[in-house]
Amino acid sequence: MSGRRSLTEIAQEAWSRYLRPGSWALDATAGNGLDTECLARLVGKEGRVFAVDIQEIALEITRQRLLKAGLADRVSLVRGDHGRLRELLACGTRGRIGLACFNLGYLPNGDHAIRTRPSGTIPALMEALLQLAPDGALSVVTYRGHDGAMEEAAAVERFFNTLPRPWTCVEQLATGSAEKPGPVWWLAATEGD
Ligand SMILES: C[S@@+](CC[C@H](N)C(=O)[O-])C[C@H]1O[C@@H](n2cnc3c(N)ncnc32)[C@H](O)[C@@H]1O
Repeated sequence: MSGRRSLTEIAQEAWSRYLRPGSWALDATAGNGLDTECLARLVGKEGRVFAVDIQEIALEITRQRLLKAGLADRVSLVRGDHGRLRELLACGTRGRIGLACFNLGYLPNGDHAIRTRPSGTIPALMEALLQLAPDGALSVVTYRGHDGAMEEAAAVERFFNTLPRPWTCVEQLATGSAEKPGPVWWLAATEGD
């Protein structure tokens, strides 16, 4: 996407509409920590970010990134399967998260077999909606290139097309072409936001 903003940049810009200093945020796929770092900046030093990943290596990369940026003290790193999000966040976060994000797929430069799958992703997205504050938002990036990605992208599309009230899909942006489909970004918030 040379000369244009990437899908990630567009998504991250939208997050700032839902977060302010002191907000709480959730990154359900910490990966290399880029999204977690962005959230940590947006919530400020009074805020809190909960960053979940199933792999210790991802959390370690994220930890190092945050330490380097001087942001580690406002982030809780949580190791586990986000399909069990409710158990993982058993610390009063429900109804308080300003922005929850999922960047699905596998860890770039990591083990591609350890990737998100619809059977875990959809329950995790449902729980993420319950974690949101009334003026919060849910941001999801899906991929369409790797094994199983199309199936997951279709499941996420169905999820966003059948959101329970009061949530509605406020943004949807698909990249790539029919021959080479790229990532898709989805954003849910309450109507009127
Ligand atoms: C595309 S990467 C995330 C990129 C990241 N947000 C960033 O800014 O660098 C996807 C991540 O999801 C993680 N993951 C895969 N399945 C998971 C699961 N069931 N629960 C939690 N994390 C999972 C992978 O370990 C990987 O680190």
